Amino acid sequence: MSDALELAKRALKHFNEGSTDRAPSQMRIPLSAYTDEPRFQAEREAVFFDNPIAVALSLEVAKPGDFQTQTIMGVPLLLTRDRNATVHCFINVCRHRGAKICQEKKGHQTRFSCPYHAWTYNNKGKLVGVYGEDSFGEVDRGAMGLTELSCEERAGVIFVCLTPGKSFDIDTWLGGFTEKLSDQQLADWHLYTERYLDGAGWKATMDGYLEVYHHDSVHGKTVGPHTVGNLLVHDTWGAHQRMAFARKNIQELNHVSPEAWEQPESYIRVVHSVFPNLSISAILGGQCLVGFIFPGDNSATTVTRQLILSSEVPTTAEERAAVETFSQMTLQAVRDEDYALVATVQGALRSGANESFLIGRNEPAVQHYHWEIEKLFNASRGD
Ligand code: FES
Ligand SMILES: [Fe+2]
Repeated sequence: MSDALELAKRALKHFNEGSTDRAPSQMRIPLSAYTDEPRFQAEREAVFFDNPIAVALSLEVAKPGDFQTQTIMGVPLLLTRDRNATVHCFINVCRHRGAKICQEKKGHQTRFSCPYHAWTYNNKGKLVGVYGEDSFGEVDRGAMGLTELSCEERAGVIFVCLTPGKSFDIDTWLGGFTEKLSDQQLADWHLYTERYLDGAGWKATMDGYLEVYHHDSVHGKTVGPHTVGNLLVHDTWGAHQRMAFARKNIQELNHVSPEAWEQPESYIRVVHSVFPNLSISAILGGQCLVGFIFPGDNSATTVTRQLILSSEVPTTAEERAAVETFSQMTLQAVRDEDYALVATVQGALRSGANESFLIGRNEPAVQHYHWEIEKLFNASRGD
């Protein structure tokens, strides 16, 4: 049975029974898990610096010679694809006296010359040119290449560990989730637009990505009219999660036997949540919303890099209008609805109203995320 068919069957059953996937019990999360600054710093380190995190999509550096730069949690990165199509991730900092080497956001070039004193590196990070070396003195080029970070590409997503010298096994990390991600065929989409959103604290922000309990109340004009509120089909692969929602049209399936369902994917919406920071919400044959969510310097802020993809390059006015409408709708739903609401949560975390948050049985993905954070945090302390 295809995944879409299985998910549609489970969603239809919930729809007919007025139910949803549920965790075995409720969960209490102490407010200190959101506000304690030393704990935040330790978790940020344990979760985001000791493990692979998703930093970009393969399609952003699609061809050999392509590059992209961004700064993630204070680390300037240079992503390149070499002539063998291997992706590399370097710290975008010169080995002479630390200037940022590549200032462009993206493009196509195989050599990068530092703007300060013109040392030049290739897209494999090798130091290939030292301006005025006669006067400077000899430089050991083999030892002075760009600092490379461990980097792997799977299912159209580029993963990096931000700690120099630290490697990871991406197949162990993703486990069976690779196959689920591969089904999204992320490498084949077209990047329509990219934007950055400032948000409230990391956990309050992530919580909002991991439940549908709020869809009717918060997204009454955007996502709400199309999906059934408080109906979640939930699966996990290690720390990673898949959430499926029912579309309002799912009731039509009651009139057709499952063997005759032609496009079960058109009755559901599926979100893939790659732990700890990537959310992919693809509408097959249409558009896709991708969010990379990163904690800020303190527990009260996040930065989200949001991508809007379209399945094909929009060429006609109609196609452009369709993807632009989706782009505006998601901006409204995420920035003006989710993030605006979560800002009120963040603003009152220290108000004294709550000593803990009560997470419902119908919020299993929120629970799972917090358990996984706690596991990594405890492991980092040797507990
Ligand atoms: S800092 Fe880059 S060449 Fe001097
Ligand atoms: Fe939302």
